[in-house]
Amino acid sequence: MRISVIGCGYLGAVHAASLVELGHEVVGVDVDERKVASLRQGRSPFYEPGFQDLLSQSLKSGRLAFSTDVAVAAGARVHFICVGTPQKHGEYAADLRFVQAAAESLLLVVEPGDVVVGKSTVPVGTAAGLSQMFAEKVPGTLLAWNPEFLREGFAVRDTLHPDRLVYGVEQASEADPAAAVLDEVYARILARGVPKVVTDYATAEMVKTAANSFLATKISFINAMAELCEATGADVKQLADAIGYDERIGRRFLNAGLGFGGGCLPKDIRAFMARAGELGADQALTFLREVDSINMRRRIRMVELAREVCDGSLLGKRVAVLGAAFKPDSDDIRDSPALNVAQQLQLQGAVVRVTDPAAIENSRREWPHLDYATTPEEAAEGADAVLVLTEWKQYRELDPVAFGEVVRQKRVLDGRNALSRTAWTEAGWTYRALGRRAG
Ligand code: UDX
Repeated sequence: MRISVIGCGYLGAVHAASLVELGHEVVGVDVDERKVASLRQGRSPFYEPGFQDLLSQSLKSGRLAFSTDVAVAAGARVHFICVGTPQKHGEYAADLRFVQAAAESLLLVVEPGDVVVGKSTVPVGTAAGLSQMFAEKVPGTLLAWNPEFLREGFAVRDTLHPDRLVYGVEQASEADPAAAVLDEVYARILARGVPKVVTDYATAEMVKTAANSFLATKISFINAMAELCEATGADVKQLADAIGYDERIGRRFLNAGLGFGGGCLPKDIRAFMARAGELGADQALTFLREVDSINMRRRIRMVELAREVCDGSLLGKRVAVLGAAFKPDSDDIRDSPALNVAQQLQLQGAVVRVTDPAAIENSRREWPHLDYATTPEEAAEGADAVLVLTEWKQYRELDPVAFGEVVRQKRVLDGRNALSRTAWTEAGWTYRALGRRAG
């Protein structure tokens, strides 16, 4: 099937290349010329494990092309909208400018019988509005909402091997012709028995925001427990292990630490609250405000902890920050807790050096006033404290004995509860972590 993908960021680029892998012929469209040039040359514009290979293979097949001109989407049967929906400046609501622009640009190319499929995370009600717009301007076009659940760092796997497929279609049932077209698009995935939910637009839109709100709540729940552990001397890691054995609770997404960041969870829970307010249902989501505050408090606590280990003052102290990306295996620094802490430390007088295996270039561009190093050893040279704020494998596997040679003071703050407390304390380090006793 000929398919177009509008928006070639983390979501769209991976989706486009994956569709080729699923047997289709795909054109990816993006307004960013540099991104398109890079994708055309087979160079991934972002760090995402497995994507580089998938991109090269898909290009080699001759069934993948990229362009800045939406005209190339003409003749495609299905058009995916994969653009970003960032938080609006100065308010909680989602900025739908890019979705609107993508939809309007598609008006120039869609034909009756084509299916426009939204994948972007949008406030509930958006799909119904777009469906009406297409019905008025190009009668006979179909609209579906098919949310994406990919995690950065696992984007390729999550796209090709999703847990489930969700279709929001006008008739809210399999009988809707758009559902049949989506079945063709995902035929190879469906053949593996992946569950599918066919529903109305509003439910499909809400599945995504509800899922992200649940995940954010789970993380903030364990981080609230971490606050209590700090007050009582209990250990949040053991607590998470113990409650996680209960299958109803589960251990995943119960890692206490610096909390969630990134381009999705923070802005999605805020946009969800804003939309609930518009719908007069704000009370239903006031708990998300608490989820957000618990999350933000962890960053403040991390800075306090750093001050504590630095004998009560950060002024002039050399602090190494290991990790800048919002999570490992990504170069994404959007709302990165690690960079947020690094900046607070610097503002409070510390001499901060940040390192990251993949995100330095992005960090330097956004936050040029911070000092960067290429290796953990370089970042930690002469340091009074080392903060591990993104749990990259390289940092989890650091040898505390050898690493101890580099620093001035052997003090480590494990912002992600990812290091072995025993190994580090045995190597003579003062070990501190959120929600755990001093080691
Ligand atoms: C998330 C959703 O998981 C995904 O389904 C959705 O499509 C987009 O948003 P992503 O932002 O890539 O994906 O990252 P995720 O793995 O969910 O992690 C989000 C944040 O939570 C990261 O900052 C991570 O460090 C933090 N986190 C995660 C914790 O602090 N503790 C945990 O136990 C898990």
